[in-house]
Amino acid sequence: MIARPSFWIAAASLVAVVGLTGCERLPVDTVQVGYRGTGMEQVTNPRIAKSLEAANTVPEALEPADSSGPKARQIYQNVKVLGDLSVAEFNRLMVAMTQWVAPEQGCAYCHNVANFADDSLYTKVVARSMTQMTQTINAKWQVHVGATGVTCYTCHRGQNLPTKLWFTEPDAKVAGRLLGNNFGANRAGVEANANSSLPIDPYTPFLLEDKPIRVIGDTALPTGNRKSTMQGEWTYALMMHMSQSLGVNCTFCHNSRAFAEWEQSPPARATAWHGIRMVREVNNEFITPLTPIQPANRLGPTGDIGKVNCATCHQGVGKPLYGQSMLKNHPELSGPDHLLKTTIATPQAQAKTN
Ligand code: HEC
Ligand code: HEC
Ligand code: HEC
Ligand code: HEC
Repeated sequence: MIARPSFWIAAASLVAVVGLTGCERLPVDTVQVGYRGTGMEQVTNPRIAKSLEAANTVPEALEPADSSGPKARQIYQNVKVLGDLSVAEFNRLMVAMTQWVAPEQGCAYCHNVANFADDSLYTKVVARSMTQMTQTINAKWQVHVGATGVTCYTCHRGQNLPTKLWFTEPDAKVAGRLLGNNFGANRAGVEANANSSLPIDPYTPFLLEDKPIRVIGDTALPTGNRKSTMQGEWTYALMMHMSQSLGVNCTFCHNSRAFAEWEQSPPARATAWHGIRMVREVNNEFITPLTPIQPANRLGPTGDIGKVNCATCHQGVGKPLYGQSMLKNHPELSGPDHLLKTTIATPQAQAKTN
């Protein structure tokens, strides 16, 4: 028997309904964030907000420790970063780090428990560098993280590895393949660019290297205007990643009538600009140098180490952990004073040059 057309229509609608349940369920909330008629609004979905709230609760803080008594460096043999803490403060941080990074494995994840001073486990060496990285973020990059700051938990959330990290895509740059050159784009199912047909690896050029992101030419003439649509696609892929990581629309950072203008952009755009520079520094100064000590199962397809992007800390919300500060209970991670004095460039100062 051959089914009538109405059957096929009904069947197709059923497939569509089932397929669409993968999308966000309506209705959404919209809040106006700019002048009337400028389309400056933020769209949120209250059903997603619930699960985000659950994912962004912070663990209970440990009791403060006594800061008097001998320093860690006087008692222990191999402390290179945290020597100024009292022994009680030092041990409190060890307990916190265990909760934040290795709650299942405990101290033994980083330590040869027969000799805590021993550096033979790579995880301990990584953790020492991560401690310096966290302090640098909290001191030097206050222009991004504010007084809220970050701890190991901001990225790790009780896991050995942060759930959001990235590796260089092996075929992002491959030219002249059998099926033609995809120019690093047009592959389905890539989280980086929010499943669009944009370039699949916007991280390597912008969050590791410092390729120019700004693409809007300031002259109409082709001689003075070296910007291209292709370059624009890379910028858009990065913008998709940033929007998605923070769970916001483009208008969180831009006035869409003039994407390039700093004067017309909400302040969050300058914060994001600093975030890009912070992430580059973290990846180049702290994480990439750890590559040689990684076991093979920690490396990506091109032999690179897992790196940080906006999602590593933000995980879908505008301020990581909804702006709750865990740093205030761990002042030992706020970093050395000299880094607080670092002068950081402003986007406005660089606006004319890149
Ligand atoms: C995520 C990795 C990590 C975990 C988990 C961890 N530690 Fe540590 N531990 C370190 C690092 C890194 C140092 C070195 C700090 C420095 O150089 O300033 C260290 C140093 C020490 C030292 C000093 C040893 C010496 O003589 O030099 C002691 C004691 C110690 N840890 C105890 C503990 C205890 C107890 C636990 C479990 C409650 C623990 N650690 C869990 C990373 C870790
Ligand atoms: C900005 C985000 C971020 C922060 C903050 C951070 N980490 Fe990490 N951590 C990473 C990334 C990305 C990796 C993956 C790189 C790698 O494989 O070593 C990593 C890896 C590690 C590893 C290696 C785990 C393994 O199984 O290979 C340890 C241990 C670690 N971090 C400890 C810490 C400690 C301790 C702190 C706080 C003092 C901390 N991290 C803070 C991002 C972060
Ligand atoms: C979290 C803030 C943020 C979000 C969200 C965001 N942008 Fe951006 N955007 C920036 C920053 C910062 C720059 C400049 C980057 C630089 O120069 O390092 C930029 C640059 C751009 C540029 C280049 C402007 C020029 O001067 O040539 C375009 C175009 C752009 N964004 C479009 C978008 C679109 C489209 C979206 C939404 C998909 C979006 N942005 C979402 C912060 C953001
Ligand atoms: C090391 C963790 C970390 C990383 C990585 C990170 N951020 Fe942030 N970001 C923060 C913290 C913490 C805050 C909250 C600061 C505060 O409370 O004032 C923040 C705040 C922001 C804000 C301001 C939000 C608001 O409501 O005003 C923007 C915009 C932002 N980040 C964009 C980015 C972008 C874009 C990236 C990637 C290029 C990025 N961040 C990477 C930690 C991070």
